[in-house]
Amino acid sequence: MSAVDLEALQADGLRAYAEAQTLDALDAAKNFYVGRRGALTSVQRSLGSLPENERRDLGARVNAARAALAQAESQRRHVLEEERDRVVLAAEAVDVTLPPRVPKLGSLHPVQETMEAMVDVFVGLGYRVATGPEVESDWFNFEALNYQPDHPARSLMDTIYVRAPGAEADQQGVTDLLLRTHTSPVQARTMLAQPPPVYIVAPGRVYRADIADATHLPAFHQIEGLAIDTDLTMADLRGTLVELVHALLGDVPMRFRPHHFPFTEPSAELDIWLDGRWVELLGCGMVHPNVLRACGYDPEEVQGFAFGIGPERLAMRRHGISDMRLFVESDLRFLSAFPA
Ligand code: PHE
Repeated sequence: MSAVDLEALQADGLRAYAEAQTLDALDAAKNFYVGRRGALTSVQRSLGSLPENERRDLGARVNAARAALAQAESQRRHVLEEERDRVVLAAEAVDVTLPPRVPKLGSLHPVQETMEAMVDVFVGLGYRVATGPEVESDWFNFEALNYQPDHPARSLMDTIYVRAPGAEADQQGVTDLLLRTHTSPVQARTMLAQPPPVYIVAPGRVYRADIADATHLPAFHQIEGLAIDTDLTMADLRGTLVELVHALLGDVPMRFRPHHFPFTEPSAELDIWLDGRWVELLGCGMVHPNVLRACGYDPEEVQGFAFGIGPERLAMRRHGISDMRLFVESDLRFLSAFPA
């Protein structure tokens, strides 16, 4: 090897080190020039075959080239390591001044929360919670509750049937299945299942063939109340409902307005005075003797009252909500306005 070749080799190596952009690239370059099979190493090996005077001379220059390369390599390594540390530190940096991410807590749906508050009032008065199926038979939803066969509520316009009226009976003898239109069938189910006295509230979902608008939903909720005992009068009904309204809305004016339901006689609706007008809150009345009889009770011995309340309406009143559809749109901006 000539002196010129060795100089060129050293210059190439220095340039390769300077151009290495990563530690891996620097390792590769180092290996190429001074590794065990590196360019400079093979020059060194060939020294043995040279005559004494040439060997000493070339050997000294090879050592000088090796030293120059080693120094350049270590300087470049220092620079690249610092750069790598800077990148890693930046990537792993934690800004301790950032506010913490607070986990989002869920909360009760405003309708559910209102229902629970109502049920709590009745439990406090000694009522028990009862439930019934949402897919109900015509008998429990209408027949036992004294609806005439041609009552308009039984029409397809009002009621969502699972099996159309008049369809053939199945093996259990059930002909007409429907989505219950109110929670009143739980009255009949409860009376058939136990002797008097009865004090129950039945919260649950009900269905009607309605189009959703600001004040109607095809699926909504009711809380049924039923009290049957030996000496209950309309005064007890009134006192019970006054208690409920006071507990939930405070001292708002109320009025009972005569109404009609097939399963109560007399019947009434309870209105409350809110925002400068009367707002209908619930239906109620004294349980009709025909209902007591259909459920195996003797109307000469026991009597009582029933009521059915729509919690959606009450939740709207409590929270100043003007459109019922908000309850079912699952819009988190709406729902998160009701913290737990
Ligand atoms: N079931 C009636 C309705 O859905 C409400 C009601 C219940 C009325 C109990 C009287 C007694 O409108």
